[in-house]
Amino acid sequence: MKISLPLFFLAIISFMNGCGDSNRDYGSELYTKHCSNCHGIEGQGLQDLYPPLKGADYLIENQGDLACQILYGMNGEIVVNGKAFNQAMPSIPHLSDVDLTNIINYISKNIEPSVKPVTLREVKNRIYDCK
Ligand code: HEC
Repeated sequence: MKISLPLFFLAIISFMNGCGDSNRDYGSELYTKHCSNCHGIEGQGLQDLYPPLKGADYLIENQGDLACQILYGMNGEIVVNGKAFNQAMPSIPHLSDVDLTNIINYISKNIEPSVKPVTLREVKNRIYDCK
């Protein structure tokens, strides 16, 4: 049996594409799954219940704590853009360092550009220091 050459290359290329899975955006998937229910798809927040992430002074000022906040949740009153919030944010303890890095970089790129992108090493160091 003779296999056509173009077909053979097509098979190789689609195989490589499938393996690389290069178009998947893990940050977006993780944000949608773990954050958007409360904070909104665009980080707009939900009235008096959930604070916004987009344009949130609290987030911008405390961005160094973000990895710990996501991992361990939050408690007690905070003020975001002049508005008080006081509800528990649940912890998500099963997230990996890579997950956290992807979520933070997704927020930086798509929701609040004043949040600086982070490296995996930075996230690891921050997690190590969570109080
Ligand atoms: C079940 C709802 C819920 C989910 C899910 C949730 N949060 Fe929150 N988040 C809250 C609440 C409520 C607060 C306010 C906490 C307080 O009053 O102490 C908060 C506060 C915050 C803050 C600080 C306030 C601000 O807006 O700057 C950040 C940042 C934040 N969340 C990010 C995230 C990220 C990122 C995720 C996903 C990994 C997430 N949250 C998932 C409910 C949620």
